[in-house]
Amino acid sequence: MLIFTKIGELQEFLVQKKTGKISVGFVPTMGALHPGHISLVEASKKVCDLTVCSIFVNPTQFNDKSDLDRYPKTPQTDLEMLKSAHCDVVFMPSSEEMYPEKDERKFDFGYLDKILEGDHRPGHFNGVAQVVSRLFDAVRPDKAFFGSKDYQQVMVIRALVKLLNYEIEIVTCPTLRESDGLAMSSRNALLNPKEREVSKIIPKLMQEARELKKKGKEIPEIKEHIVSELNKRGNYELDYFTICDAETLKEINSFSEAKKHVALIACYVGKIRLIDNVLLN
Ligand code: PAF
Repeated sequence: MLIFTKIGELQEFLVQKKTGKISVGFVPTMGALHPGHISLVEASKKVCDLTVCSIFVNPTQFNDKSDLDRYPKTPQTDLEMLKSAHCDVVFMPSSEEMYPEKDERKFDFGYLDKILEGDHRPGHFNGVAQVVSRLFDAVRPDKAFFGSKDYQQVMVIRALVKLLNYEIEIVTCPTLRESDGLAMSSRNALLNPKEREVSKIIPKLMQEARELKKKGKEIPEIKEHIVSELNKRGNYELDYFTICDAETLKEINSFSEAKKHVALIACYVGKIRLIDNVLLN
C-alpha cells in the first residue's frame, strides 16, 4: 500500500499508472474508519484496477468548530484497516496541501443544499463540494464510492459532478449497520456507553416508519408517531424527521404509488449528532 501526502506526487504516480489504461476507484473519507468505509474500498476493488482512499478531515464542511475539534482521529488504525483491505493507495494530505489558500468558491445546487442537512448545518455542503472537487481533481478517478447513510450528500455530489462536468461515475453503496441496527458512523465512537445504548432507538424508529407505511398509514401519522416516541425518552434532540421523494429529496405530505420515498432523520444523542435514512418502498 502506497501512502501519499502531496497532490503532485500522487498525480505523478497516477498518471504513470493511467498510461496503462487502468481504471481508478476512489473512496474519500475523513478517517476514523469503520467497516462501512472498508465496504466502499471492497466495492471499488471489485470493479476498478486501482483503489485510492483519502483521509482528510475537511475543516470547511464543519459549521460548528467544536464538532471539528472533537471529530475522531485514528490514523494508525485507519492505515492498518486499509492495508488489510488491500487498498492500493492512501492519500493523507495536510490542510495546507488541500487549501494552500482560502477556497472562496460558492456552489449553488438550487434547493438541494439548502434543505435538511443544508438547513441545519449552513455551509456544510459548500465545504463538501469544495473538498470533493479538490480531491476529484487530485485523483481524477473513473468511479467514486459513497455510502448511502449520507443520502443528501450523495445527491449533492452527483449535482457537483454535473456542474463541473466530471467524467466520474458516482457509486452509492448500502449503509452498514451494527448488530442493533445503528448505522455505522465515525461519530458513533464519540457516544458514551449510555448514549450508545439509547441510540439504537434511531434505526428502530426508522423501521417502524417503514412498517407504518406498509400498514397504510399516511405521512402526518408516521411523523407524529416518530416524534412522540422520541419525546417520550430523554437524551434526544431531534433536528428533523421527514419523508421525501427519494429521487428529488423534496418533502412530501402524502404517498403516491408511482414514486419512491425515503425517510430521513437527524438527531442529537447527548452532544453527538447522528443521521440515518431508510427507503420506504
Ligand atoms: O462523507 C464524508 O466522510 C465526507 O463528507 C467526505 C465526502 C469525505 C468529504 O470530506
